[in-house]
Amino acid sequence: MCSHMSISTMLFGLFLLASTFTSVDAFTVKSIFLFKDVIQSNTTALKTSGFNTLLIFRIGVLTNGDLVYYSTGSAGEAVDAPVVTNGSYVGGAALADKIKSFKSGTTDIERVEISLVSHDTTFQNIRSLINADGVGSDTILYKGFDALKAAWGLDAFNNDDESVYDVSSTVSFGVMLGDIGYKYSIAPYTNSGFWSNVKSQIDATVPELFDTVYLQVYDGGASNDPGTWQDTLGMPVVPIVWVTNDAKPSQGTTVAQARTKFSDWSSQYQVAGGGYWNDYDIEKLGSSYESYGGALTDIFP
Ligand SMILES: *[C@@H]1O[C@H](CO)[C@@H](O)[C@H](O)[C@H]1NC(C)=O
Ligand SMILES: *[C@@H]1O[C@H](CO)[C@@H](O)[C@H](O)[C@H]1NC(C)=O
Repeated sequence: MCSHMSISTMLFGLFLLASTFTSVDAFTVKSIFLFKDVIQSNTTALKTSGFNTLLIFRIGVLTNGDLVYYSTGSAGEAVDAPVVTNGSYVGGAALADKIKSFKSGTTDIERVEISLVSHDTTFQNIRSLINADGVGSDTILYKGFDALKAAWGLDAFNNDDESVYDVSSTVSFGVMLGDIGYKYSIAPYTNSGFWSNVKSQIDATVPELFDTVYLQVYDGGASNDPGTWQDTLGMPVVPIVWVTNDAKPSQGTTVAQARTKFSDWSSQYQVAGGGYWNDYDIEKLGSSYESYGGALTDIFP
């Protein structure tokens, strides 16, 4: 049956077949949450240690819809930077250039996300703003997240709600972000019923928007089983462990321990990759980005 096909045509066909599968399956997540101020952290190390996904932690939403970048500096100091006021980017060129540089030049980074967490009133404010104004393109929330995405070249939004859990505004907000052009991820530690409900409603409205789950398997989520979460959510998850740290040393994971955990989860559950909480602790304790990244690239090639 191959008599009319040259070897090179066949090889080219095989190549096409192989690249089709590769393009579907290649993205195994190798991630790290950026708790440290991106201006002060080691950008080169973040770009060249094997991570392909960075999650900027964190953006706060104020009552009036303005956005603030909250982070932590080298000395442990709080760094608060207003980044969107009245729907326009005000975070400055230095911050925008730094974040855009993650994906340019010599880099392994393919995806940059912003994380929102409920340690402040962010999710209450989102709920109030959506209940009052809806999710149209003329709303303050829409304009603000649109402006931030454009200024920073963002790929995705990461929902780390740990207390408000309002299904209706969460789904509406997710669909709004998808409309702006963000992909959507979550970082749960508990309440799989809430997340499963949100996922099925977002999936039903915008298929493939909700594409990644960073599962906390440390601290409050230490007893989480990635396999159980995968069954509940109907998709592979990315387990996250906490690197060696002096904040809660008992929750720290050495590189060797991370290798064992990721390797077990990969073979037991075919998880979608792995990742770490967080860069600040790596730098503070003088740990090696390369070694933590290497555990991921070895186990999730
Ligand atoms: C940043 O990381 C790079 C690459 O790992 C390393 O060569 C460099 O020394 C680091 N810079 C600082 C200030 O630690
Ligand atoms: C906020 O932006 C709107 C439209 O972009 C403008 O009409 C309004 O004057 C601005 N408000 C303030 C306080 O700058």
